[in-house]
Amino acid sequence: MLWSTLIAMACAGVWWFFVRDDLNVGGRLAINHCGMCHDLTARQVMDKGPPLWGLTERPPGTHPRYDYSPAFLEHVRHHPFEWNREVLEEFLQYPEKVIPGNVMSRTKMGHPNFYQDVDHSRFRKDLVAYIIQLK
Ligand code: HEC
Repeated sequence: MLWSTLIAMACAGVWWFFVRDDLNVGGRLAINHCGMCHDLTARQVMDKGPPLWGLTERPPGTHPRYDYSPAFLEHVRHHPFEWNREVLEEFLQYPEKVIPGNVMSRTKMGHPNFYQDVDHSRFRKDLVAYIIQLK
């Protein structure tokens, strides 16, 4: 009885860590890794980057009040796609590969604000889960 309880708890722990999206962790990561350039709230304030509120509800590069770089606009015009979990995970790891020439991946380490991916794929999943529910 004791063993089966312990095994069940261990399984729940593994499931919790590997499968479940943790929006609290995702939210904190989003503030630390994205918040200095992107507004994450429904107020949709303009910043260095476009507001991320409602990101999955519009095609890439179409926030009505943000001035995207020509490289970004040119790329999404020729290669239209949708923001979803898979694309975001790819974009956060390889922004330059997904949208060549975009300004976000041009920011350099050492500047007060620069783009930095999260280290662990589990945490990247949490971050992406948080971003896509901003609506
Ligand atoms: C150093 C500032 C900076 C940081 C940090 C940053 N971004 Fe960006 N982001 C930008 C800029 C600038 C653009 C617009 C790029 C362009 O026009 O070429 C952008 C564009 C985007 C877009 C495209 C949005 C659209 O309307 O199509 C997404 C998605 C995005 N960023 C997600 C993120 C996420 C998620 C994070 C945190 C993990 C993050 N960014 C961190 C500056 C940043």
